[in-house]
Amino acid sequence: MQRERSRAKLVAPRRPIVLVVDDMPANRELLEGYLEELGYDVRQARDGIEALEAVAAEEPDLMLLDVDMPRLDGIAVCQRLKMHPTRRLIPVVILTASNDREVRLRGIAAGADDYLSKPFDAKELLIRTTVLLRDRELNKRLDATESVLFALARAVEARDRYTIYHAERVGRYAEAIGAAHGLDAEDGELLYQGGVLHDLGKIAIPDAILLKPGPLTDEEFAIMRTHSTEGERICLSLRSVTHYLPIIRHHHERFDGGGYPDHLAGSAIPLGARVAAIADAWDAMVSDRPYRAGLGCDEARSRLRSGAGKQWDAELVDIFQHLLDTGLQERVARRQLTATA
Ligand SMILES: [Fe+2]
Ligand SMILES: [Fe+2]
Repeated sequence: MQRERSRAKLVAPRRPIVLVVDDMPANRELLEGYLEELGYDVRQARDGIEALEAVAAEEPDLMLLDVDMPRLDGIAVCQRLKMHPTRRLIPVVILTASNDREVRLRGIAAGADDYLSKPFDAKELLIRTTVLLRDRELNKRLDATESVLFALARAVEARDRYTIYHAERVGRYAEAIGAAHGLDAEDGELLYQGGVLHDLGKIAIPDAILLKPGPLTDEEFAIMRTHSTEGERICLSLRSVTHYLPIIRHHHERFDGGGYPDHLAGSAIPLGARVAAIADAWDAMVSDRPYRAGLGCDEARSRLRSGAGKQWDAELVDIFQHLLDTGLQERVARRQLTATA
């Protein structure tokens, strides 16, 4: 008997959720009518506060936002969303009178993705929403790819009880060094994430070497050293992580050119990798390893000082020493405790 072929889909299609925010009921109803006809699942909010509550309860795929509203206006809502780590990816369309240049400029400054002129035009609405929802879908997939990598980085650590949370701490130290060096929050985020991913390539190193309870032979060490290029190889095809690649590839370069894999020296080593190298070395020195107990902080600090200008960038070592003086290690440990509690 022949089985009837059904139209199978790997993922059941879902109607995109569009949140319409306007204090005028007539506008909301009009937009809802248009949008439902286009196949969207529509939610309504009457002002800025209601809009933020609606987003917190259920993240929409797109938001149409009026500007003049009681309690909290549209520009403020847009600003708040665009400062949020994940909600900033929700596309926001500002609803404005077509000749209101001032509002448009304020909208751009607040991070709005697009505009829709009143009175609304059904065709324009269709085109703008389709484009933004397609971008939204792509962004979500990129996000998912990143999450897989971070899960992988944690899986690497799970193989080895000695390095548990090492990557997370390296990320936090690197982020702090970056901020003290004057880098902005976006670069700080990159340093944190690059720090978390720096040893991802260890996934390719056999247990017998990775977990060996004693010093490695030359041959084993050569294999161990491949983890930086292996990590880069794993991430190479993923466009969303290309920014971290220099950190992953070069975190074992030395300032005097004696490191690996490329024997880069001085400022030829990417800044992110120079920062991560200090964060990594510090955490490795003070943590227990299969073949030795961790060093005391005083001893680790004196090694850091004597390696400044040879193994590490001296200016960044100074910054890191100062951060240690002001309690960085305790702050990172506390943060980790609350994160894992
Ligand atoms: Fe490493
Ligand atoms: Fe490491």
